[in-house]
Amino acid sequence: MAASAPPTSELRVAPSILSADFTNLGEAVAQVTPGTDWLHVDVMDGHFVPNLTIGPPVVSSLRAHSALFFDTHLMITEPARYLEPFRDAGANGCTVHVEVGGTAALIAQMRELGLRVGLAANPDTPFEALEPFLDQVDLVLCMTVFPGFGGQSFIADVLPKIARVRAAADAAGSGLDIEVDGGIDERTVVEVVRAGANVFVAGSAVFNRDDPLAAIQEILAAAAGERAGAPS
Ligand code: DX5
Ligand code: ZN
Repeated sequence: MAASAPPTSELRVAPSILSADFTNLGEAVAQVTPGTDWLHVDVMDGHFVPNLTIGPPVVSSLRAHSALFFDTHLMITEPARYLEPFRDAGANGCTVHVEVGGTAALIAQMRELGLRVGLAANPDTPFEALEPFLDQVDLVLCMTVFPGFGGQSFIADVLPKIARVRAAADAAGSGLDIEVDGGIDERTVVEVVRAGANVFVAGSAVFNRDDPLAAIQEILAAAAGERAGAPS
């Protein structure tokens, strides 16, 4: 028996504003705020992914209206150029993609800037690409769709990778946050919790609902139910 059990990471939903009404972002954030302490901000550059979204000015505007932790997902090919502007705009954590390379330097830069450090992997990027950095980051983001657009279908093939990341974190006694992003709702969340994820990005499942707060609570309840029922 292990001397001590690994820390249990907290379950949370990080609503993705990508699916919110961009003409009324302040209201969208206010609607979800009672249900979470994180907000997921999707940044796309038209290079790393075939879509363009928001930059530091929007983060700065949101910061003036929200005390939530801004979980900033950088789907961009040159994160080194933009980490400081996002930090200055009010990002609390930034997540860079391992596929862009230069990961060790990016992690060092994020630490230097005082950002919480996240590392993301696309669905077809293997566990081995993340492995060298697991002891250096606060969060690993396993994409459960190919990034670029909200409203895509969950890719279950990613589940074994999530399980490997959690097993490695447990073996190291670390309370690493494992985040999933793409196609998460009250059904798919059960599968990712079983695999070891604890932070659930949800865009369309939250903001396409008449009651976004109820959607968050349903996802969280499904996750907590699965964890409570799991054999120890
Ligand atoms: C996908 C983004 C996601 C997206 C999730 O490229 O990184 O955060 O908004 O949207 P849903 O929950 O609709 O799959
Ligand atoms: Zn995202």
